[in-house]
Amino acid sequence: MTKKGFIFDLDGVIVDTAKYHFLAWQNLAKSIDIDFTHEQNEQLKGVSRVKSLEKILEWGNKTISEELFASLMGKKNDEYLSFIAKMTDQEILPDVPRVLDYLIEKKQPISLGSASKNARPILDKVNLLSKFDAIVDGNDVSKAKPDPEVFLIAAQHLNMKPEDCIVFEDSVAGVQAANTANMISIGIGEKDVLHEADYIFSDFTEIDNSFIDKLINK
Ligand code: BG6
Ligand code: MG
Repeated sequence: MTKKGFIFDLDGVIVDTAKYHFLAWQNLAKSIDIDFTHEQNEQLKGVSRVKSLEKILEWGNKTISEELFASLMGKKNDEYLSFIAKMTDQEILPDVPRVLDYLIEKKQPISLGSASKNARPILDKVNLLSKFDAIVDGNDVSKAKPDPEVFLIAAQHLNMKPEDCIVFEDSVAGVQAANTANMISIGIGEKDVLHEADYIFSDFTEIDNSFIDKLINK
């Protein structure tokens, strides 16, 4: 049977956590008198914690000490984790379990490819950890998306060539990373934002099993 490597981003693809990252960054920005818009937040999606804070400071024209930088990163993560603590499997995005289970039924290798350092506890909390053959997250990479590193490592773990991998992403940086890795990119979100993706869907309810079969047999 044909096998493809299926790689999923986490935040905004598997779970509805993008809103919590936004809230935590917004509060953080406010606390240091920087305005932070939805449009700017779009540019932070898929981007690592360090890079995100660097960008916010750049937008606000602020330079700060290393100590303050570290403490702000800690503050943001503490608030984010306080949101996550209340999370339930209700926050798994629509039809994600159906797609994962179909891929498992079809014996397709599945990996996570996320920038988050909180990926494992989040997947554990929503009871999806066991669905993945490999987990590659922010603890395993040195280069942030749009660099393809995270997806290339995931492909290695799945023992698949990059061109035989398919990436599901909700961020512009992630779609670019998948394209650079020479993988098929599937954008989950808005067409205007994710226009660089090979395919774009609003969410997984639009992805039926026959489309997945098509990807497997491509
Ligand atoms: C990405 C999110 O998945 O992970 C970003 O889209 C986030 O918003 C990044 O900053 C890092 O996550 P964490 O959990 O390590 O702060
Ligand atoms: Mg994401």
